[in-house]
Amino acid sequence: MVNRSPIPVVDMPLKIVVLLSGEGTLLQSFINRQQSGLPIEIVAVISNRPNVGGLARAQKAEIPAHEIDHKLFPDRPTFEAALIKLIDFYKPDLIVLAGFMRILGEQFVDHYQGKLINIHPALLPKYKGLDTHRRAIEAGDTEHGSSVHLVTSELDGGPVIAQIKLPILPGDTAETLTERTKQKEHLLYPEVLRWIAEKRLVLATGTPCCDGAPLKSPVILEPDSEG
Ligand code: GAR
Repeated sequence: MVNRSPIPVVDMPLKIVVLLSGEGTLLQSFINRQQSGLPIEIVAVISNRPNVGGLARAQKAEIPAHEIDHKLFPDRPTFEAALIKLIDFYKPDLIVLAGFMRILGEQFVDHYQGKLINIHPALLPKYKGLDTHRRAIEAGDTEHGSSVHLVTSELDGGPVIAQIKLPILPGDTAETLTERTKQKEHLLYPEVLRWIAEKRLVLATGTPCCDGAPLKSPVILEPDSEG
């Protein structure tokens, strides 16, 4: 558990670039929390899909919004080279994948080692890949959740930093569970950004360290530590 007191002083907000592919409700949770004092600065939002809701949310909040449509590139390395060039222009402290639905190759992951995090809607190591909500329901699980992890070249396989859990209710469908999981993610992901901004969570070595010690197991966000 991350102990939140005493409250550390943050001299400079954490500069983040957000990568997304869709609706952008996670991005909205960052914007909302930033407005109420979360020490982050969203320096750019980049989507690999044109005209998505996440780009509109960025524009509304006056954040530079870019689309780099992967379909316009001949192959993954060329697409990722363009992405790296754009991200590096903003000199972020951290690259935050928030519903970015494109597998990233070794070239990209190595370039941002210790600076690249993702949220995956499952209690990793369960249900890597797609369709996590449906798979959890079909397996008869009683519990679901979401995980924030460091990105490595193994898909959804990097060290897990933090998780949030929720019950699977009788009658839940993939849609209802997706929606309820997102509500939880909107609490979890900004909180992880806070820990990084406050330098309580350090990722630079590739092994997450929390309050000075290597993280042995994921932090479980409890309701009383939200907010
Ligand atoms: C979130 O639920 C996130 O966990 C998931 O995409 C959704 C994005 O929602 N990410 C993945 O599935 C990555 N494998 P949003 O576009 O409303 O922020």
